[in-house]
Amino acid sequence: MNLTVIYVGIKHGNDHDRSSLRRVVSDVEALKREAGIAACNFIKNGMKLGLGTGSTVRYTVIEIGRLMNEEGLSIVGVPTSESTKELAESLGIPLISLADSGPLDLVIDGADEFDTNFSLIKGGGGALTREKIVAQSSNGMVVVADDTKQVEMLGAFDLPIEIIPFEWERTAARVSEICSGKVSIRGGENPFVTDNGGFILDCSFGPTIDNPKDLENSLLNIAGVVEVGLFVDICDVVVMASSGGIVTLVNPKGRLE
Ligand code: A5P
Repeated sequence: MNLTVIYVGIKHGNDHDRSSLRRVVSDVEALKREAGIAACNFIKNGMKLGLGTGSTVRYTVIEIGRLMNEEGLSIVGVPTSESTKELAESLGIPLISLADSGPLDLVIDGADEFDTNFSLIKGGGGALTREKIVAQSSNGMVVVADDTKQVEMLGAFDLPIEIIPFEWERTAARVSEICSGKVSIRGGENPFVTDNGGFILDCSFGPTIDNPKDLENSLLNIAGVVEVGLFVDICDVVVMASSGGIVTLVNPKGRLE
C-alpha cells in the first residue's frame, strides 16, 4: 500500500492514475476498518461505553453491533452525535444518557490528528463538544485512527472550534487574533450547524501547536466559544492501522494497559 500515489492520480488524471487513486482511497478505508474493529479488543462484557463519531469509529460501532447480535456481548452506549445515535439504534445497541449511566468505562472515538504526547485534534465531523463531554465522563479513552493521523506536532489539520451563532463574527475576530487571522467559518455563507445548534470555526495554525493545553485555555477564555477541538491528557491508547498492520500505542501516563 503506497499512500503517496494519491497525488499522482489527482495530478495527471488518466485512467491508470484514476484507478490508482481509487485503490489508495479504498486502502485508507480498509485501514480505518481494521483500526475500528481492532479497538473492540478493549471492550468487556457489561461495559458502559462512549460511542464516538466519524468514519473510523463507525466501524467500531458496527462491530459492537455484530458482537452483540452474534456473540452475546452486552454493553450500553452513550453516543457522541446524532449520526452515531442513529447508527447505534439501527444496530440494536441500547443507549442511555450520561445522567443515567454515571461514569463510563471507556470511550472509543476517532481523531483528526494525534501527537507523540497523545494530544488530539478532533472535530472534523463537528461533534467535538459532545465528544469531549463524553470523553471527560469516561475512565479511559481509546482512539482509532489510520497512520495518516499521526503527527510530530499538532496543527496541520485546521483546529475546529464550536461557537454560538450569536454575533459569531465578533467571536471569530477574537479567535483570529490568536491564530493570526487564519480562521474560516465552516460552510461559508451557509454555515454548517452542529447537533447543538452551534457553528464551527476552522483555524489554520500549521504544525506549530507545541502547547495545546495553553492554546485550549486561551481559546476557551473567549466568550462565544463553546468548545475547542484540542483533547489533552485524556487519550490513553491509540489503535493505529498502517500498511504494516495494527499498532497499539499505549500512553505511558494513561489509565489503560
Ligand atoms: C468528529 O467530530 C471528529 O472528532 C472525528 O472523530 C474525527 O474527525 C475523526 O474522524 P474520521 O475517523 O472520519 O477521520
